[in-house]
Amino acid sequence: MSLTGKVAIVTGSGRGLGLAYAQELARQGAAVVINDVDAATADAAVKTIVDAGGRAVAVAAPVGPTETADALVAAAVENFGRLDILVTNAGVLRDTVLWKMSDDDFDTVIGVHLRGTFTTVRAAATYMRQNEIPGRIICIGSPTGQRGNFGQTNYAAAKAGIVGMVRTWALELKKAGITANAVIPVAATAMTATVPYFAAAVEADAAGEPMPAFFRHDLGFGTSDDVAGLVAYLASDAAAGVTGQAIGIGGDRLQLWSHPEPVATAYREGGWTFEALHEGFADAVGELQSVGERFPALPADLQRPAPTV
Ligand SMILES: NC(=O)c1ccc[n+]([C@@H]2O[C@H](COP(=O)([O-])OP(=O)(O)OC[C@H]3O[C@@H](n4cnc5c(N)ncnc54)[C@H](O)[C@@H]3O)[C@@H](O)[C@H]2O)c1
Repeated sequence: MSLTGKVAIVTGSGRGLGLAYAQELARQGAAVVINDVDAATADAAVKTIVDAGGRAVAVAAPVGPTETADALVAAAVENFGRLDILVTNAGVLRDTVLWKMSDDDFDTVIGVHLRGTFTTVRAAATYMRQNEIPGRIICIGSPTGQRGNFGQTNYAAAKAGIVGMVRTWALELKKAGITANAVIPVAATAMTATVPYFAAAVEADAAGEPMPAFFRHDLGFGTSDDVAGLVAYLASDAAAGVTGQAIGIGGDRLQLWSHPEPVATAYREGGWTFEALHEGFADAVGELQSVGERFPALPADLQRPAPTV
């Protein structure tokens, strides 16, 4: 099930998870357009693929604007003759609680993740439809988008929005044979390196040691390479029947996320008035839903002191 002959774009692939996706797609035979805001980082990423015998070119530009999306598709077609696979991975964080979040914090994160995903998928899907290519759209979500997270209003909105768009694109692109899926990764990268809860795992990884089983198994937290196989699989012909899904991956763990469904349904003739809700809301809906990610307690030997800043 090789990707030989296929051409991929991976946004934000200068480092971290995006670089791992690009390297794995190239290892499976695809030619890759590397994209990042930083030209030197993008060029270095290209070099790792070319040095390993693969094919890659760099486009240094920020995703978000339509011009960048068009330039990425043009680079794939001009350098490698076609486009089969798009991975929308570029991302930034501007974390703070709602009451401290500025307009700029909100717009920056929405611009890169949500708008960047919209504009690049629109450009890629338009090209794939016009050229009758049964392409692969792989968008990167986050557990925060699925469950919410303290201090991440902007990021939660963007990542939940991405999964919402993926469901819609799976419907709209089905007839053209183009699949659209969301990958929900967890891995040790610059984005997670400073989270105290993951410190013992990041420490082991940095020392070139395997991460403790608690992280890999119980938390589904591992390296970027642990996530890359799923992206390459979804890009392959074998995954032609997989579309509209949100798939979690990290460490030793693979998960299929559910899409929201009503969990309680109640009817009242004449409708649910204010008075009727006072009377019957609790019985009608039953147990309320939880929010936020659920992290098990860290075993004592994996706890690290909190940072002193
Ligand atoms: N690391 C995790 O555990 C985790 C968990 C859930 C989701 N994610 C998502 O995975 C993706 C990659 O995260 P990572 O952990 O590798 O982060 P990272 O910060 O290591 O890498 C992100 C890359 O995107 C680039 N980038 C930022 N803005 C860009 C823009 N406008 N255009 C092009 N490139 C841009 C950065 O320069 C960087 O190279 C992000 O979408 C992130 O939200 C990561």
